[in-house]
Amino acid sequence: MTDWAETYDQSWAAREAVFAALLEQEDSLARVLARFDDFERAHRLLTKDGEVRYFAKPQAPDPIGAMNPTTPQAFHGQMLAASDYFEFRRDRLLADLSQTADCVIELGSGYGRQVFAMWLAGANAQARYVAAEPSAIGRRLTQRLAALEPRLKLECHPFDFRSATLPAVAPDQRVLLFSSWASMYAAPLDRSLFRAIAAHPGPVTCVFIEPFGFQVNPHAPFAAQQRGQMEAQGMNTDFFEALREEGAAAGLELVSVAPDLFGRTDETLQLASVIIAEKAGQDACAEL
Ligand SMILES: C[S@@+](CC[C@H](N)C(=O)[O-])C[C@H]1O[C@@H](n2cnc3c(N)ncnc32)[C@H](O)[C@@H]1O
Repeated sequence: MTDWAETYDQSWAAREAVFAALLEQEDSLARVLARFDDFERAHRLLTKDGEVRYFAKPQAPDPIGAMNPTTPQAFHGQMLAASDYFEFRRDRLLADLSQTADCVIELGSGYGRQVFAMWLAGANAQARYVAAEPSAIGRRLTQRLAALEPRLKLECHPFDFRSATLPAVAPDQRVLLFSSWASMYAAPLDRSLFRAIAAHPGPVTCVFIEPFGFQVNPHAPFAAQQRGQMEAQGMNTDFFEALREEGAAAGLELVSVAPDLFGRTDETLQLASVIIAEKAGQDACAEL
């Protein structure tokens, strides 16, 4: 079965080479990320002869053609053809939630893209940011990119969903913890994660942006296809159940579940649900 943490380690090495070239030409984080996106839209990252490499896509982006959309996308469970230029604002959602957080933790943070995106969308400048990621290359690349934003207080920590140890956080801190297309690789999931999150004495908000529609509602339109893809690739199938059972027992309450909220429906691994759980801080409980 694929070891996804190891597979990603190789992919971050390929990405690091692209970023290194961009960093020679750009000194703005926003420009580096935008140009990296352009590169990724024009290339495919594939494993060939045991090596992970970029290959140019045969077709260049077609901006005018995109005005006549054909890409099947989900909008809160409904399927519509949409332009590739439509995007769900994860960065703004996370930036808004960060305003009441002292510490923001991303689990499975890759090269830190979501932390950088929320930062550039106006996230809380006073908060401490923790990018928790198994790949040493991903963490190194995160640090290198963070150097372009000296005001961003960012640290990297090793983290693996299969044996989950959370970064240390001061007891009185308000925590925003999230994952984006990363909990999907929690196979097997260390289910004690939710107890560890809930053990933090201060308030915690958790946001999981993941292809978990099939876990939320097995009868949803794309559930069977999504489950099939996740199972075939050895990805997580019990995250939502574990959150509901272990999380609830420990005091993490589900406050919003938006299945199949956004993303392509012809590639169900790209079809994301947004699941939010909260735990009040001990002070708040004492007041009740
Ligand atoms: C699709 S990338 C998403 C990266 C980042 N969250 C983002 O949205 O840009 C998946 C990430 O999950 C991480 N990952 C894979 N297996 C993992 C595991 N067992 N524990 C923690 N993270 C894992 C990979 O290293 C990679 O950084």
